[in-house]
Amino acid sequence: MEIGIDKIGFYTPHFYVDMEKLAHARDTDPGKYLVGIGQEKMAVAPTTQDSVTMAANAALEILDDEDKQAVDMVLFGTETGVDHSKSGAVWVHHLAGIQPRARAVELKQACYGATAAIQLAMGHIALNPESKVLVLGSDIAKYGLRSGGEPTQGAGAVALLISANPRILALDKEQALLTEDIMDFWRPIHSDKAFVDGKFSNESYIKFFTTVWNEYKEKTGRTLDDMAAICFHLPYTKMGRKAFRAIIDEASEEVQESLKERYEESIAYNKVVGNIYTGSLYLSLLSLLEQGEELTEGARIGLFSYGSGAVGEFFSGTLKAGYQQYMLGEKHQEMLDNRKELSIEEYEDIFEQSLPTDGSAIELEVEEDPAPVVLAGVRDEIREYINK
Ligand code: CAA
Repeated sequence: MEIGIDKIGFYTPHFYVDMEKLAHARDTDPGKYLVGIGQEKMAVAPTTQDSVTMAANAALEILDDEDKQAVDMVLFGTETGVDHSKSGAVWVHHLAGIQPRARAVELKQACYGATAAIQLAMGHIALNPESKVLVLGSDIAKYGLRSGGEPTQGAGAVALLISANPRILALDKEQALLTEDIMDFWRPIHSDKAFVDGKFSNESYIKFFTTVWNEYKEKTGRTLDDMAAICFHLPYTKMGRKAFRAIIDEASEEVQESLKERYEESIAYNKVVGNIYTGSLYLSLLSLLEQGEELTEGARIGLFSYGSGAVGEFFSGTLKAGYQQYMLGEKHQEMLDNRKELSIEEYEDIFEQSLPTDGSAIELEVEEDPAPVVLAGVRDEIREYINK
């Protein structure tokens, strides 16, 4: 039985900052952000969006009534969860209207959470072929104004429906894994901003990638020539490029050329959204499938997931015939095109806004936010979510 990705939904907030203007404001050569980091625009979340609302908006894009009855597990990967106890999965389960006889739980391991969720979903469906699992990856990446990580911020969510007989990507059974206790990027419980050892995080990412890639080859007997494309976790689009460079020579010249072309397609969305942590790898897959026209049935796509701290995994899947009919490329392009550009002052203002931490209530202005699901306020320490 084949198990894999049946549908992919995506949501990003309606605000962005232009990276060239951010570079000028930070007295930096724009070439560093545009080429050196490889980012053009950076999504900014208003206070009416958090990891729960973004995940719910991504899920609502793909779930029909039949899915809402068939989903019996909601797995929410995030590293910017909104509660230390209650999982975001329970809120999304409610906001998306999923039938009640379901399991709902949040998973955390930096940007790796959604990948862990996919693998758990595969096992669950192998035992329960009629089930569908909703996997969510949703985050707001925040490093701080004028910090080294600032140009690699972003916000957004990806929702994946995992099922038997998938219509988009059938996942291969083999994976290669690596876990090591390192401090390359972390966020202490008291802080709403991430801490990072930038250079070490880059080196760790590449070390993890080459290690799991070599192990994947050994386990499967497949080589780079067997890959039609490789999608990477993309904290910024230059990162995947650097990792690719470490192995690209293994492919024949012809394959190298086509892998490079596919890579450009796989970064189109990430380049204008920024880092969305758990959803980032799957945003890259979505970008490849919606921006590329060269991929055909049976094409194998490699996927590299990396969650600082750190866990890395390389796995793969093959494309299903007619997958194009299930992609929502026009809708996603429209969402990206209709965003409002923020001035640097407006962005800094929004960045500094936060919900009260002293128990007082707040009512948020939701009219300006075009998303269906928004955070309307907080009362008695309870977040009030609405689906407009
Ligand atoms: N024109 C073109 N390129 C330029 C340039 C210019 N004018 N000026 C600089 N550059 C290039 C540099 O040569 C460099 O290129 P290479 O990486 O190929 O060497 C690139 O721009 C970046 O320059 P610096 O290394 O000097 O930049 P920095 O020290 O300010 O920091 C960063 C870059 C480490 C990525 C920082 O933004 C950061 O800490 N980001 C957050 C951490 C991160 O994303 N780590 C990635 C791996 S961890 C992970 O993947 C998990 C996760 O999601 C966080």
